[in-house]
Amino acid sequence: MKIGILTGGGDCPGLNPVIRAATRKGIADGHRMIGFKNGWKGILEGDYIVLDRNVVSGILHKGGTMLRSSRTNPLKVENGIEKVKSVMANLSIEALIAIGGDDTLGAALGLYRGGINVIGVPKTIDRDLSGTDTTIGFDTTINIVMEAIDRLHSTAESHHRVMVLEVMGRHSGFIALLGGMAGGADMILIPEKPMTAESITESLKRRHHSGRDFSIVAVAEGFKLDEDEGFVTLNDEKDQFGNVRLGGIGQVIGDEIKKRTGFDTRVVNLGHIQRGGAPSAFDRIFGTRLGVKAIEMVNNGEFGKMISIKSDQMRAVDLTEGVGKRRIVEDDLYKVAKYFFP
Ligand code: F6P
Repeated sequence: MKIGILTGGGDCPGLNPVIRAATRKGIADGHRMIGFKNGWKGILEGDYIVLDRNVVSGILHKGGTMLRSSRTNPLKVENGIEKVKSVMANLSIEALIAIGGDDTLGAALGLYRGGINVIGVPKTIDRDLSGTDTTIGFDTTINIVMEAIDRLHSTAESHHRVMVLEVMGRHSGFIALLGGMAGGADMILIPEKPMTAESITESLKRRHHSGRDFSIVAVAEGFKLDEDEGFVTLNDEKDQFGNVRLGGIGQVIGDEIKKRTGFDTRVVNLGHIQRGGAPSAFDRIFGTRLGVKAIEMVNNGEFGKMISIKSDQMRAVDLTEGVGKRRIVEDDLYKVAKYFFP
């Protein structure tokens, strides 16, 4: 069979291991593999490359995606489903493996309902996809956040400062929470748990009055102060999935801290550094397992499904289990982190 692969949405470390493993396993099982360039844009335009052992050689440790990505939504393009079907028919492609988060897998579900054989592979650094314990890219990202916090500690301590670190996490705060816990952040602010500027600054004052003279605050880009109405955004541009560009909540929090406490405060936005570079060992192994599993699912005709990992077991579950039901930080996990707030 001829199988197409694509990567959609924001890139992350771990995509190349999936592409490599699916290609190797697919070829070993007698399939022909092709990779569509730039996510759904490539399939709409018939822009692809042939994947073979040589093409995927040497990519295991590389970040990003060798197929490139985009935030094109085929369901928002006129006759998008028919265009995808016609490109697949012209190229004799019988199955599609879509690697992505809620947006990409939501489009995959729409295409499946339109009659296309699709399998979803869970990817998002935000880990906000339901139906699975984790997603490719998340582990690398929280390791980068942890390292950033480790580095901020020494400079915060030297200058008796509050350092505010803004990280990604649009609707779900897993990156801030788990990266923050690993790095020992003193306060962690996530979209699921709005707080007032007063309660944040009172906590920091408590810490500084009990003998500490520096603090680290990790804040997710989607965090909202109780008193605020909406997200802090960089501009009002939206992508084809309706996402606005977030950014700036770190500065808002930093300004409040400075104003209300007088503590010398600095703000760092980790930005796309947390999405770049080499995948962790976990994401290389996880990506490899995902690629192999995706081909097994094609072999079994398990279309309209995505890979779910639960208790280290890979299973095929309906795409509807992951799509449109955003996973948010569980209360029990937040309670553990909160125990270490001042
Ligand atoms: O993929 C999700 C995400 O990591 C969000 O947390 C963030 O808002 C977004 O990507 C930013 O992506 P980009 O800058 O590529 O639009």
